[in-house]
Amino acid sequence: MSLQLKEIQAPISAEMETFERKFRDSMKSKVFLLDKIMGYIVKRKGKQMRPMFVFLSAGTAGQINDRCYRGASLIELLHTATLVHDDVVDDSNMRRGFFSINALWKNKIAVLVGDYLLSRGLLLSIDNEDFDLLKIVSEAVREMSEGELLQMAKARTLDITEDLYYDVIRQKTASLIGSCCAVGAASAGADSDTIARMKEFGLNVGMAFQIKDDLFDYGPDEIGKPTGIDIKEKKMTLPLIHALQQTDASTKRKIKRIVKSNSKNQKKINEVISFVKSNGGIEYAKKVMNEYVDKAMAVVETFPESQYKTSLANLVQFTIERTK
Ligand code: IPE
Ligand code: IPE
Ligand code: MG
Ligand code: MG
Repeated sequence: MSLQLKEIQAPISAEMETFERKFRDSMKSKVFLLDKIMGYIVKRKGKQMRPMFVFLSAGTAGQINDRCYRGASLIELLHTATLVHDDVVDDSNMRRGFFSINALWKNKIAVLVGDYLLSRGLLLSIDNEDFDLLKIVSEAVREMSEGELLQMAKARTLDITEDLYYDVIRQKTASLIGSCCAVGAASAGADSDTIARMKEFGLNVGMAFQIKDDLFDYGPDEIGKPTGIDIKEKKMTLPLIHALQQTDASTKRKIKRIVKSNSKNQKKINEVISFVKSNGGIEYAKKVMNEYVDKAMAVVETFPESQYKTSLANLVQFTIERTK
C-alpha cells in the first residue's frame, strides 16, 4: 500500500494549514520583483516534508506550540534558499515540476533571492529570540555548504569512496532533516537527551532520503527534476560508486573517463547508466537505504505511543516510497 502525504498529515493537518499561512507571510517583500518571485515560489511549493518532520517530532517529544511554527518556517525558508542556490550551482532548469528560479530570472537574481530567503529565516528567529532553534539550524546550514563543497571537490578528481559519499550526504542533506527533528523536540520543550535522540532519528531518515534522491537520477520516473543530471555534473553517487567497486580496473577507467570528459553526451551518459544497472548499483543503494530506515525506526520505537509517533514512522516509510 502506498502512503499518501495527506494521511500522514492527519494529526497535524490544522498545524500545517496555519503553517502555510505563516510561511507565506514570512516571505513578503515590499520590493516588487522579490514579491513576485516569492509568489512564484509559494505557488510551486514542495512536499513540505521538513515542516512535517518538525511538527511530528514536536508532538512525539512534547507539546506543539508557537515556537514550533517558527522553527518550521525557519527550516523551510533555509531549505528553499538552498534549493534556489542549488539550481544555480547545478545549472538545473527544473525544480518542483516547473522552471527553476535561475531558468526564469537568471543566476544573478536567483543568488540574491536565495540570500533574501536566508536573511528572512535568520530575522524570524532573532526577532523572536529563538536562539536555541537558530543554533541548531545554523549548524546544519554550515554543514550543508561544507557537504556540497566536499562533493564538488571530489567531482573534479572522481576519487570518492563509499565512506566519503556517506560523509557528503550526511552533511548536505541528513543534517538538515536531523535539525528538523531536533528543532521540533526543542521547540516543544523536550530535554537535551530527547532532542539528541530526535536528531539521531532525523539523521538516519535524512541518509535514506538522499539515497532515494540519488536513485531518482537513474529513474525513468517523472519526478519534477531532470534525470541523469548527477552524472552530467560529475557527481558520483552510491549506485555508481558501488558498481565501480564491482568491476575490473580497465572498465573502471573507461567509465570514469566517460564521466570525466563525455558528460554532455547523452549516449555516453546512458552507457554509464546501463553499467550501473547491470552491476547491481541500484539494488545495493536500495539495500543501504533500507538499513538507514531500520535505524531510524529503532529510534522512533524509543518514544511513547501517540498518533504523532505513528505518523512520524509513516513519514519515514514515505521517504523511501515517494515518487518525487
Ligand atoms: C530536495 O529536497 C533537496 C534534497 C535534499 C535532495 P525535497 O525533495 O524535500 O524538496 P521539496 O521541498 O519537496 O521540493
Ligand atoms: C541537494 O543536492 C540540495 C542540497 C542539499 C542543498 P542535489 O543537487 O543532489 O539535489 P537536487 O536533486 O537538485 O534536489
Ligand atoms: Mg546540488
Ligand atoms: Mg541539484
